[in-house]
Amino acid sequence: MTELSPQAYAFLADVVYRRSHIRLGPDRQAFVAGRLANRLRQLGCTSFDDYCRLLDTPHDDEAEQLIDLISTNHTQFFRELAHFEILARDVLPQVAPRAATSGRGLRVWSAAAASGEEAYSIAIVLAEQPIKLLPHGWTVQASDISRRMLDRCRMGIYEAAKVHLPDPQLLGRHFLRGFGEREGMYRIKPELRRHVGVLPINLFQPRYPLPRGQDVIFCRNVMIYFDTESRQALVDRLFDQLAPGGFLFVGHSESLLDLRHGFRQVGPSVYERPLESASREPAP
Ligand SMILES: C[S@@+](CC[C@H](N)C(=O)[O-])C[C@H]1O[C@@H](n2cnc3c(N)ncnc32)[C@H](O)[C@@H]1O
Repeated sequence: MTELSPQAYAFLADVVYRRSHIRLGPDRQAFVAGRLANRLRQLGCTSFDDYCRLLDTPHDDEAEQLIDLISTNHTQFFRELAHFEILARDVLPQVAPRAATSGRGLRVWSAAAASGEEAYSIAIVLAEQPIKLLPHGWTVQASDISRRMLDRCRMGIYEAAKVHLPDPQLLGRHFLRGFGEREGMYRIKPELRRHVGVLPINLFQPRYPLPRGQDVIFCRNVMIYFDTESRQALVDRLFDQLAPGGFLFVGHSESLLDLRHGFRQVGPSVYERPLESASREPAP
């Protein structure tokens, strides 16, 4: 494999940081070289310097590929199960009546959704609620920086062996079993799929193409890749994006401990924007 010099690594880490705020520490050189080896071959680059020159030209697509290749997209259905229990048991009874009183559907955002398992797990929880709790319906917005992941989310087709659900009955209610060349796969049923929107969103882009006043935001297992300054900026924006009284879920290994914020912690990695709180920034 061609060698990744410290200069080329510093350049790549800078491109990744400027685009995604993912911070690649000094110990990630071998990891990055490994992840990019095939890409260099595909592009006919004979060295990492060649590859850096390609990125140095205004070549948007390649920076996107780079981020895609070095980012971790691991996810699963009902990952960190306690969050889905808290959603159903504690959060929905508070946010659903407020949405209903405002005459609108409930809005949930799965930010950094990867291939969609998180968004569909939330959708399953919502679909299982009595209609009277959500009389104006509901939507789950799935977003990610990776278009490749979002294509998988949009398809909603998953390997059967990886679909682990807390109750086996949910399988028949929300998934279709694949036959023939789709043997061994499950597809999300269209009636669940139609509640889930899919949008490319970089969490650091200037504006989110979503209404303010989200009732619940899941932003899990992505902040671990960001530095404190970026996490602070992100948490401030998520606060503004939530309706007063809305809830933010972050990953179990993430916390807002070292950040300044107006949230109230209500559970393990679960935060509430207090009802009486004002937005920090006026709506754009
Ligand atoms: C480990 S997955 C988390 C998936 C899911 N939230 C979960 O907890 O299972 C992290 C995702 O964050 C996405 N990501 C990384 N940087 C991002 C950014 N700046 N904006 C939006 N998504 C980003 C990656 O593409 C990846 O799909």
